[in-house]
Amino acid sequence: MSTHSASTPSLGEIVVGLDIGTTKVCAVVGQISEEGITILGKGEVPCRGLRKGIVSNIDWTVRSIKEAVEAAEMMAGVEIRTVYAGVAGSHIRSQQSDGVAAIAGGEVTRADVERVLEGARAIPVDADRQILHVLPREFVVDSQDGIRDPIGMSGVRLGAKVNLVTAATSCVQNVIRCAERCGLAVADVVLEPLASAEAVLSDDEKEIGTVVIDIGGGTTDLILYIDGGIAHTSVIPVGGNNITNDIAAGLRTPMAEADRLKRLSGCALGRMVRDDEEIEVPGVGGHQPRRCSRRVLSDIIEPRVEEIFCAVRKRIEDSGMLEQLSAGAVLTGGAVLLEGSAELAEEILGMPVRIGMPTGVSGITQAIHGPGYATGVGLVKYGVQQILEAQSRAAAPAAHSMMRMTAAAVSKRGGAVVDERGQATGTDGEPPKSSRLWEWIKAAF
Ligand SMILES: Nc1ncnc2c1ncn2[C@@H]1O[C@H](COP(=O)(O)OP(=O)(O)OP(=O)(O)O)[C@@H](O)[C@H]1O
Ligand SMILES: [Mg+2]
Repeated sequence: MSTHSASTPSLGEIVVGLDIGTTKVCAVVGQISEEGITILGKGEVPCRGLRKGIVSNIDWTVRSIKEAVEAAEMMAGVEIRTVYAGVAGSHIRSQQSDGVAAIAGGEVTRADVERVLEGARAIPVDADRQILHVLPREFVVDSQDGIRDPIGMSGVRLGAKVNLVTAATSCVQNVIRCAERCGLAVADVVLEPLASAEAVLSDDEKEIGTVVIDIGGGTTDLILYIDGGIAHTSVIPVGGNNITNDIAAGLRTPMAEADRLKRLSGCALGRMVRDDEEIEVPGVGGHQPRRCSRRVLSDIIEPRVEEIFCAVRKRIEDSGMLEQLSAGAVLTGGAVLLEGSAELAEEILGMPVRIGMPTGVSGITQAIHGPGYATGVGLVKYGVQQILEAQSRAAAPAAHSMMRMTAAAVSKRGGAVVDERGQATGTDGEPPKSSRLWEWIKAAF
């Protein structure tokens, strides 16, 4: 699967993101290169096996994954065996937790950090749910809070405030099962908005405070970054397909035509449409096409998009973090290509809004240019980050315990919530900071 370089073992390694979405399956092939990540190819196939971000038909999903992976293999000229798969849906929940640990040697090491995060995840989780991610928000060393990276700091007591993301085990297992039925190993199952944010956000935006809103076909996913950490995430079960349904019902036209009309002539803000603009609406059941004002189309679309952004605003308000989003909102996901969506979002959310395209990769970037590829590219970035972190842990053997439980590991162990962590030793586990790899990780992420 990979060609190894002697100096940096992961150089040349292939990392594949598998975005199993409500409208399409998209496999993105990346390679770890001197430049960071080089995109080698992509395979994209429509998928009808999901409802609102959750696998509802295994056979249909498996077929789409197979086709998408084959297309990606063909384009990239590589064989795909392992993927980082995305998961979404309204079964996802996030809650805050914290942990405390003694600083073993008077100076915080990677092992101390892993131990405190381990403590933060030790909360009761329903039997049918599993922890997907433990996302550090901030660390506290003795009485000093608001610390992003405590490694190397002096103190006696390390605290961590984290966001725990949990998911319904059955939904995660279905994603893994679909991939495995295609002969693929799942390296990790990743929350989709987390992946999308990796692809579209700058470090500055994460630091200043921003919300990523990924509007796909079936769901609208949110993730809030404050002070560089993830402060909240949630999934709203409404997306671009609801707009299509409204158009099909409102204009009495087939679904495929409604989707085409939305993409070509749709607008989320009625006042952006001139009165004299007209569209042709194909009829259903042999009825003749008819002409109607484009304003009629936008009058159908606007309330639905408004509903989505009002729900987003409500979730942000409920999180109590509206005032902290100084960098505003970044819209991504295929549905934000709808004309006027950024303008309407700005009005409803009352903050600056931009459209987020995948960035920070090189190679065949035209293949992944568009907000609909944010999740796929983000999964590759996440995977690369995991590989490099594991490598830096291996370079520091005393602290090579796994911080994150992989969903794939859970699958192999019969669904129990276990991780791959060994006993923390408390010895200094930080990799040599001078190493080229370490510098690369810091620069890239
Ligand atoms: N140019 C466009 N204008 C308006 N809507 C568009 C455009 N292009 C795509 N869409 C809509 O974007 C949606 C698909 O977006 P995306 O590919 O991000 O979804 P997905 O990942 O399959 O779904 P989800 O993330 O909800 O599971 C569809 O509803 C589609 O109609
Ligand atoms: Mg999606």
